[in-house]
Amino acid sequence: MAGVCVIGLQWGDEAKGKLVDLLTGQFEIVVRYQGGANAGHTVVSEGKTYKLHQIPSGVLTPGVMNVVGPGVVLNPKVMIEEMDCLIAQGVRFESNLMLSDRAHVVLPWHMAEDQAMDKNTADGESIGTTLRGIGPCYRDKVGRSYAVRLGDLYRDSFRERIACIVDAKKKVLAGLNGGSTLELDPDAIFAEYNKYAERLSPYVADTTAFLLDAVEQGKRLLFEGAQGALLDVDHGTYPFVTSSNSSGVGVSAGSGVPGRWIEKVIGVIKAYTTRVGGGPFPTELKDDVGNHIRERGREYGTTTGRPRRCGWFDAVAARYTARLSGVDALSLMMMDVLCELPEINICVAYEIDGRRTSQFPSHVDDLRRAKPVYETLPGWREDVSQVRRMEDFPRNARAYINRISELLGRPVEVVSVGPDRQQTIFATPTLVRQ
Ligand code: GDP
Ligand code: IMO
Ligand code: MG
Repeated sequence: MAGVCVIGLQWGDEAKGKLVDLLTGQFEIVVRYQGGANAGHTVVSEGKTYKLHQIPSGVLTPGVMNVVGPGVVLNPKVMIEEMDCLIAQGVRFESNLMLSDRAHVVLPWHMAEDQAMDKNTADGESIGTTLRGIGPCYRDKVGRSYAVRLGDLYRDSFRERIACIVDAKKKVLAGLNGGSTLELDPDAIFAEYNKYAERLSPYVADTTAFLLDAVEQGKRLLFEGAQGALLDVDHGTYPFVTSSNSSGVGVSAGSGVPGRWIEKVIGVIKAYTTRVGGGPFPTELKDDVGNHIRERGREYGTTTGRPRRCGWFDAVAARYTARLSGVDALSLMMMDVLCELPEINICVAYEIDGRRTSQFPSHVDDLRRAKPVYETLPGWREDVSQVRRMEDFPRNARAYINRISELLGRPVEVVSVGPDRQQTIFATPTLVRQ
């Protein structure tokens, strides 16, 4: 099997990092292919917590190559800070990290534009971005005129390129709502990014050529999605999305590896739903149950620390994203969080203007009016964080897992009952290897 993908099926933070870390041992290469420092993937290993933003979660496993592909928007300053943080935690970087020379670079104006424009959403509701400059960097990538790719940092033309872009960006920033106080000195920016370029130079490479060779040689690749499929720029809850293809459809475009090499897609879901930032969320719970989930699940952002909005599992949304992403199997996370609830709801349909539907709406205005239709299942009191075999779950917990699998039409192959590597149940021992 050449390529396996791990894709979040909700609005991000499904615990993709934990699953990628667990599976990494079965692969030679782990690839991040979209998003950037907006991602925050947590891995807990032997009591230590690692927070990864731009570096693939395979980095904790020795002997595995970690690739940051062309579809990622890379912030070199954050990358260096992340490397230093991991080095301080005992992680080594010598020959196990590659950064695509095609990846676009996040520059200071991108953060300033993100800040100014997030307040400016046409309908008044803020997207609530992570303010990491992700949208503006992708906008420049597609626009081409003001873009900088990692490979550009090593060209003689880089100083002149920065000077031209700064000229234009000064005007852009001045014209934005409320303007921006960011001072742009092209010489200082050139000097700063030159320093970053020097530090990162051992890792910069043509990763597309590397990955194409790898798949042709039969090497095994694990693709690590960032964000979640409901945040996909084309297929998610637009405009309350991120700026990349975060569903399964983004793997090939962002990595350069043709779809024919992808053999399995694992969809990651939480046992409930969370969302950070703005946008409709039909099953949101603004009550004690929502607070219970937030506190038990420690649902606060890995990247921004913001409290996450919490709600019931939405099977309409997750079935849509499972189909969209070509999901073969599910990994159901955070099962420990739901204990102590007398009853648990699953959203099985929406009611929009009095009409019942199981189709996920394409327009955000329709999603705003969607009222969840719930199926209620009995909860369980027992703490399941020590469960290690499917048969040891309380009966009601097993029924809940089975119902989710049935509603999404896919087998649940992994269940997670806590952040640690040990707190994982593999329902199928042959999860990936076949
Ligand atoms: P990602 O962005 O999809 O990688 O997810 P995050 O790391 O942002 O958020 C998931 C959080 O849940 C992290 O703090 C994980 O350590 C934690 N976590 C992972 N699996 C479980 C689980 O099964 N139960 C609980 N309680 N926490 C988990
Ligand atoms: P991981 O990989 C959860 C959300 C932001 C905002 C929207 C747009 O850890 O699952 P952006 O900064 O990307 O322009 O913000 O997307 N968002 C995430 N939410 N997890 C993430 O990443 C996210 N990355 C972006 O909160 O609503
Ligand atoms: Mg996260």
